[in-house]
Amino acid sequence: MGLPNLQVALDHSDLPSALADVKNVGDIVDILEVGTILCLQAGEEAIRCVRALYPEKKIIADTKCADAGGTVAKNCADAGADWMTVICCATIPTMAAAAKEVEEVQVELYGDWTYEQAQKWLDAGISQAIYHQSRDALFAGETWGEKDLSKVKKLIEMGFRVSVTGGLDVDTLKLFTGVDVYTFITGRGITAAENPKAAAQAFKNEISRIWG
Ligand code: 5RP
Ligand code: MG
Repeated sequence: MGLPNLQVALDHSDLPSALADVKNVGDIVDILEVGTILCLQAGEEAIRCVRALYPEKKIIADTKCADAGGTVAKNCADAGADWMTVICCATIPTMAAAAKEVEEVQVELYGDWTYEQAQKWLDAGISQAIYHQSRDALFAGETWGEKDLSKVKKLIEMGFRVSVTGGLDVDTLKLFTGVDVYTFITGRGITAAENPKAAAQAFKNEISRIWG
């Protein structure tokens, strides 16, 4: 079992504050995400700036793309993104078109999806999934628990590299002990912390403690 990656999600509403945070934690985390909120606010420019700051890091555009996969993916790749996300209700042709333009596509699992659909994503060559607790579900009182673990484990058994995200804090990670999580993605757990650098390091330390 490998050490899970740590990914910071830059879900800022403006580019300067996203860049300030990424400069603080970019060397600590493994993967940089231009989050959905930032994509909508500053899109291409945000990807270009993050790429300029971190030429060697893996960068993800969290577009949650639902259609026009090839065009969106080409635009993201041209700006400097390595990977991008598509929403799980997108069609296979949308996902496949995106996969031709970026290094890898990740399927964001929201709302209703089935393991039968998931098998179709694998059959189309897409082997990364993001298991997500939505921000709004968490606000409505949802919590991480066994129901999530069993789905994450099943997806891993099917052959996916699974990232886990949604309101994570350092304490949530131990729920996944013994599970081969590919990446933990955290936004507010780092960027809304009083000391983002220390928060990112605390996530890294906990990952090493549990999986090291
Ligand atoms: C929301 C997202 C976020 O980037 C992801 O949930 C991580 O952010 P946070 O840790 O703040 O929940 O994709 O749709
Ligand atoms: Mg995101």
